[in-house]
Amino acid sequence: MLQISEILPLREVLAHWRQKGERTAFVPTMGNLHSGHLCLVKHAKAWATKVIVSIFVNPMQFDRTDDLAAYPRTLEQDCRKLKELDTELLFTPSLTEVYPHGVENTTRVEVPGLSDILCGAKRPGHFQGVATVVTKLLNMVQPDVAIFGKKDYQQLMLIRRLVADLNLPIEIAAVPTQRDPDGLAMSSRNQYLSRAERMLAPGIYRILQDTAKAIEAGERNYRKLELQSIQKLEQMGLRPEYVSICRQDDLTAAEIGDDKLALLAAAWVGNARLIDNILMNLKN
Ligand code: PAJ
Repeated sequence: MLQISEILPLREVLAHWRQKGERTAFVPTMGNLHSGHLCLVKHAKAWATKVIVSIFVNPMQFDRTDDLAAYPRTLEQDCRKLKELDTELLFTPSLTEVYPHGVENTTRVEVPGLSDILCGAKRPGHFQGVATVVTKLLNMVQPDVAIFGKKDYQQLMLIRRLVADLNLPIEIAAVPTQRDPDGLAMSSRNQYLSRAERMLAPGIYRILQDTAKAIEAGERNYRKLELQSIQKLEQMGLRPEYVSICRQDDLTAAEIGDDKLALLAAAWVGNARLIDNILMNLKN
């Protein structure tokens, strides 16, 4: 596996691959790789002849400095896992390589609407940071396809929108959420949980499943379902930020008659802010 930290040598390798007619798939990450990330890499293998993974903990998308400082950095283990999957290239740019003029002085990418709702409403600046770094990374790597997880559904929709709006000639592929056996969506933040909190955390997915079942059974009062789900999470001892039943494409509030739904939740468990979602198609 090649490990490259600068843009110039990265471009040289990529140009060489392109000349040879290789198809490239790119998986951007912030490292501390778990089976959810590795599933994206396996998907990438199926899509392309060369897989590029990036690890960059992006300060622009953190709304709290303590969260950024505590974010787990495990490059050695990450390298081992990526080598086992025969990843061809790991890109690990430094802060100055990504933001040579400093984070504050960098041109930013703003995706209106999608950035300001749900997680965006709770984490000011977060999605501007994601949109900016993903645009920069896509421009650095210029892959044929880039792969993202459905676990971060709002992020996925934001990236699809920016790629369309900015006419980037890159296909965006999405991979289903990978879960622990008890249903908890895999996340780097799960390791912040104490034993007791870890027992509570799968409650988020359970409540989303209950909500999906109620909708399948014919309930269409979505605002009532959202309130009930929030109350149930509180009763379980979690601190929900939102449970929202939305339209899958633009994440606006779903109404009777919509058939493609995204059930999205964010809740604090101890010091960890966890998110999850279920996608439903009522016409199927
Ligand atoms: P990170 O949290 O490291 O996630 C990298 C990718 O892995 C994202 O596309 C995310 O949706 C996916 N992922 C994480 N957990 C997953 C799970 N349990 N199942 C499936 N996919 C999962 O998301 C980011 O980094 C950053 O915001 C980034 C896009 C790299 C920009 O900095």
